[in-house]
Order: sequence, then C-alpha cells, then structure tokens
Amino acid sequence: MIISFVLDGEARTLEVDGGARAVDILRESCGVTAPKEGCGTGECGACTVLVDGVPRLSCLMLAAQLDGRAVITAQGLASDGPHPVQEALADLGGVQCGYCTPGIAVTAAEFLERHPDPTREEIREALSGNLCRCTGYHKIVDAVEDAAKRLGSGCGRDE
Ligand code: FES
Ligand code: FES
Repeated sequence: MIISFVLDGEARTLEVDGGARAVDILRESCGVTAPKEGCGTGECGACTVLVDGVPRLSCLMLAAQLDGRAVITAQGLASDGPHPVQEALADLGGVQCGYCTPGIAVTAAEFLERHPDPTREEIREALSGNLCRCTGYHKIVDAVEDAAKRLGSGCGRDE
C-alpha cells in the first residue's frame, strides 16, 4: 500500500508492505534513525515518536497507521537547533550511551508542553515507559526539570 505522511516537517510518500512496522520504515525506508529499536515489544520506549503530537511506540505501530499523520522524531525536535530538553539532557549528564535518549527527548518534550512546571514525581511518572540502562534516571529527571526552566524562561540555555 501507498502511505503519505509528514515526517519531521517533510512530506513523504512511500509504498509499504501491509505488515511493515513503523519503526522499520522510519529507520530503513526514510533514513531517520533517531527512533531506536530496543526491545521491539513495547517495553523500553526507545522507539518513541510523536504521532500527531502524541508519544507512540513505533515498534508497535504498523507503517500503515502513519498514513495521513504528522510524525516528529528526536531529529525533527532538533530541526531548529537542539530542543531545550535535548540541551539539558546533554548538559546535565542525562546522556551516556544515548540509546534511550531520542525516545526520552520526544516523550519529555511533549510532557513539558502539557506540564510546564512539573514536580520530580510527575517527571518520573511521565518517563516511566522509557527505560535507561545507564544513568540511574536521576540525571534525566534533573535534565527535564531544568528544561522546564529553560522553556519557561524563553531564553534557552544559560552560558
Ligand atoms: S523498541 Fe519499542 S518499546 Fe522497546
Ligand atoms: S543513556 Fe544508555 S540507555 Fe540511557
């Protein structure tokens, strides 16, 4: 089948098999490698992308489900320069191997749009579906908390 969707702000049309997974066509057919496949079973969140603004696990979606939708990956999040969440993750040590980072970035960015002044507990809850093997989460929560301040200030990172 032919699907058309907007990927990180760019219109895409491609032919996909009926059973093709979204994560595979994003990475292999579209060359957008920000969404990572970790578990492939909906457990780790590494494959998270925003579909019409909502975090979705692309390993559990069919490519066909992207038809007519707008998809934002961590690459698109950074299309005008790193998003404050991405900057904060890098600045505060929330990135080690980086495998979980794209999924965390899009999840946190969407969360902060809805909760601009979250508590640490709310941040932990929001990221509960995004597993990280490296950081122990403390620095990730620090980073999302800091990103809320950066977004609230409207002036980006402190130098
Ligand atoms: S790869 Fe999709 S949730 Fe783990
Ligand atoms: S930084 Fe390595 S899995 Fe999170």
